[in-house]
Amino acid sequence: MLTRATDADLPEAVKLINASYRGEASRQGWANEADYIDGERTTLETLRADLQANPAAKLYLTRSSADGAPLGCVWLEPHDREVWYLGLLTVRPDLQAQQLGRTILAEAEAVVRREGGLTVRMTVVHLRDILIAWYQRRGYVLTGETAPFPTVDPPRDDLHFVVLQKPL
Ligand SMILES: CC(C)(COP(=O)(O)OP(=O)(O)OC[C@H]1O[C@@H](n2cnc3c(N)ncnc32)[C@H](O)[C@@H]1OP(=O)(O)O)[C@@H](O)C(=O)NCCC(=O)NCCS
Repeated sequence: MLTRATDADLPEAVKLINASYRGEASRQGWANEADYIDGERTTLETLRADLQANPAAKLYLTRSSADGAPLGCVWLEPHDREVWYLGLLTVRPDLQAQQLGRTILAEAEAVVRREGGLTVRMTVVHLRDILIAWYQRRGYVLTGETAPFPTVDPPRDDLHFVVLQKPL
């Protein structure tokens, strides 16, 4: 179900991610950042640069078997052999709450396991209680660690990330 995105897939991935995280379109889903973060989640330049800067990272997409449209995505990146970072877990807003998110998450964890990974870590904006609870129901635990929110314009000193992890 998950296939590794190539450079040619990135424009569609950016559209999917931006429509799902923030802005009016994302409100069709149940978990988004529209209430407290404006602007786009990423850009083609940023996503491409992030992939180039992290050659071991992979972006995976899942597409419709009917028309090939992108339905969801996830980012996986080994910190070392055992600990992997998972990010950009995304399901198209109109398809959310139909168990696609947990299916992509489980497949991503299976990829990590196959590669010898033992732990998945992720960061979530600290205000996203409903999403944090969703990850906790999938076996993730809050580590107590925090990480700074990236520099944006205007700066958002009121936001930070919490770190969750799951032993596989
Ligand atoms: C987070 C996300 C990937 C989940 O995908 P999904 O396909 O909706 O997830 P699932 O269908 O597997 O799970 C739906 C869950 O939402 C719950 N849910 C549905 N509507 C809800 C609502 N209005 N409020 C709270 N929970 C709700 C369901 O009860 C179910 O949870 P449970 O089975 O654990 O009880 C998806 O919402 C998304 O792409 N959000 C935008 C991008 C994002 O913020 N990603 C997270 C990055 S850290």
